[in-house]
Amino acid sequence: MRWAFTASVMACRPCAKAAAWPISRYLSGSSPQAVPASDPDPLQHDQADLAFLLNPGAKAKMDLQLADKTVLVTGAASNIGRAIALKFAAEGANVVILDLDRAQSEKTVQDIQDAGGRATCAVVDVTDAEAVAITIADIVNSVGPVDVLVNNVGWSGKMGYFLDIDPARWDKAYRLNLLPVFTMTRAVLPAMVARRQGAIVSVASDTGFGMTHTSEYGAVKAGVMNFSRSIAIEYGRYNIRSNVVCPGLVIPQAGDMGAGSFWNNGIGYSEKEIGVLEAQVPMRVLPSANDIADATVFFASGAARILTGQVLSVSGGYQMPR
Ligand SMILES: NC(=O)c1ccc[n+]([C@@H]2O[C@H](COP(=O)([O-])OP(=O)(O)OC[C@H]3O[C@@H](n4cnc5c(N)ncnc54)[C@H](O)[C@@H]3O)[C@@H](O)[C@H]2O)c1
Repeated sequence: MRWAFTASVMACRPCAKAAAWPISRYLSGSSPQAVPASDPDPLQHDQADLAFLLNPGAKAKMDLQLADKTVLVTGAASNIGRAIALKFAAEGANVVILDLDRAQSEKTVQDIQDAGGRATCAVVDVTDAEAVAITIADIVNSVGPVDVLVNNVGWSGKMGYFLDIDPARWDKAYRLNLLPVFTMTRAVLPAMVARRQGAIVSVASDTGFGMTHTSEYGAVKAGVMNFSRSIAIEYGRYNIRSNVVCPGLVIPQAGDMGAGSFWNNGIGYSEKEIGVLEAQVPMRVLPSANDIADATVFFASGAARILTGQVLSVSGGYQMPR
């Protein structure tokens, strides 16, 4: 019986080269490297084999399917969020910036429009659930239903040992990192469920895996990861995807940093400190805001249609989540 089954499979997939590359070569214990160079290349299949192996639905180019999508990005006036907004706009999305910093939000909108893209902004405190609900209702009326939410607002104080951190910071870390993810998700999710369509990408941090000098910030970023996975599990059946991007250290470029940036609070790194940080990164280079934007856009895109509940460290390998 077994021989007959094998024979029928072979009959469906004629491959003249198969006989020249017997599986027994591997099973016998000799390594693939030991195969003489004169042997035929097992990857040189004939056309019949290629047709069988290739997915007939596969397209030559990756299609992100973001054109005309309505994309909300919180904290998009500055640094990482700004790069995310610019990148979505470059993909043809209709970007809405939600930020407290009006001047820098308007600058980002202008930069997008100057480049031929579409963007608007709304000044709103994303920790205020009531204000968020009103703003989202306005956006849906004026721009259209929300296809993508990027939870990017976050805040970090100066790094330090747990016992040296003022307990007042615990609450601030929660209010500016995890609470906005709750308020924004609560505001957009019901309509996404009703439309059976939506992608949420939340920006956490490599510190969320546990790191020195970042205890309270890392703890709430771990909360962002956990919450995002819960949303992925609970709402995946409605075609809602929820994923997480964890940036490594992204030092803002001067023109990309807004007045509302937490980088204005005395957080800075000397050349020497940057060298020490780079030496701890396998790729010996820190990520840029654009690197984080690329990963975020990918997670939100149609190319990631089967990805949900995933956590991606964008850090040159500083963290390698399993
Ligand atoms: N920059 C990094 O090295 C780094 C590393 C890991 C993770 N992250 C995370 O990436 C995200 C972006 O970081 P960044 O460096 O671009 O920050 P940033 O401080 O430069 O920008 C944050 C933006 O959020 C806005 N904002 C702050 N509070 C707000 C509120 N209540 N309502 C609306 N808008 C508000 C600010 O005005 C600012 O424009 C954050 O979640 C941060 O925790 C950053």
